[in-house]
Amino acid sequence: QIPPDLRSLADYERHAPAHFTAEAWRHVQEGSGEGLTLRANRSAFAAYGFRPRALADLRGGGTAIDLFGRSHAAPLMLGPVAYQRLAHPDGEHAVVRAATALDTGMVVSTLSSVPLEEIAGTARAFARELGKDTPPLWFQLYLQPQREHSLELVRRAEAAGYEAIVLTIDAAIKPAGMTLPEGVSAVNLAGMPIPRQTAKPGGRIVLGTPLAEAAPRWEDLAWLAEATRLPILVKGMVLGEDARRVADMGAAGIVLSNHGGRVLDGLPSVLNVIEDVAEASQGLPLLVDGGFRCGTDIVKALALGAHSVLIGRPQMHALAVAGMPGVAHAIHLLRTELELAMAQLGCPTVGDLTRERLIDLPRM
Ligand code: FNR
Repeated sequence: QIPPDLRSLADYERHAPAHFTAEAWRHVQEGSGEGLTLRANRSAFAAYGFRPRALADLRGGGTAIDLFGRSHAAPLMLGPVAYQRLAHPDGEHAVVRAATALDTGMVVSTLSSVPLEEIAGTARAFARELGKDTPPLWFQLYLQPQREHSLELVRRAEAAGYEAIVLTIDAAIKPAGMTLPEGVSAVNLAGMPIPRQTAKPGGRIVLGTPLAEAAPRWEDLAWLAEATRLPILVKGMVLGEDARRVADMGAAGIVLSNHGGRVLDGLPSVLNVIEDVAEASQGLPLLVDGGFRCGTDIVKALALGAHSVLIGRPQMHALAVAGMPGVAHAIHLLRTELELAMAQLGCPTVGDLTRERLIDLPRM
């Protein structure tokens, strides 16, 4: 049921608009402001070329990596993307089935449109059916205005078998989002107050409103680190100094991200800052996201010091176009491209992807 002309993530993106309402498509694709950061995430890849190892010994090798004691088939995970039922009625159920089939980790959003327990249950049931292990499932946490509600989410994630918490710190302040269609909602937050920007002309806009009052602070990270035994990754920083502070506070990993260009326009592309953040993060697992669309993109990030890469929007594109098989196909395409690029570069293992494999190209 996958049209034969779908051979890359770009193909899925090209087909996707027909499967969304105009408003939902804009919501998925948009960047903030003028889209400077959104575009920089993509254009940054062109700044690097490859220095292949001629006639390298490619015997053996593979793409598997270890994170927090779990094996991942490739340095690639599905990042947290809210409201997946905007793309397909099966929403997160379809995405987690694809992740399970392809042994790929998934980070489930606080704003999932299927309850977090059901997503984990679907993964377990499908893994059993396929006779394989459940893939690594992590829970992405948006801190709630009241700690009891944040704690409730963490406890639910622990009980449902999630293996890590990804605390997103960069998106507390953003304009009111799209109006969700009937039947799509933040089901995990039912009964919890959601702070929104609801400025009236002449009134307070952001500062001095509940939105800003409830924005997470450093002390909240310290609190969370005490509140759970799960490893905590902090997502949404682009500076080495922040990565260092997060590491010092006991976080287990860093997710270098500018939120796909959806928050502060003008943040640097992730590729531009990987080396700084890698150096500052003191050997902690470093994941990155923002604009990864093909195998060579992943190779470049790994060569600059990242340990793994998260995919955002392409999940929604593939899900909308072809449901669960589409997402599985998109993961497969990326994995295939990654292995081809590694082999052509003369790097049979992820550990062979070092800075020496890249050449700085002059900017156009
Ligand atoms: C996101 N992102 C996001 N991040 C997060 O921590 N929690 C969330 O609920 C969401 N929701 C979300 C919805 C949509 C529609 C998009 C496009 C993005 C950000 C996401 O995890 C990731 O940082 C970027 O999407 C990565 O960039 P690419 O791969 O989309 O270019």
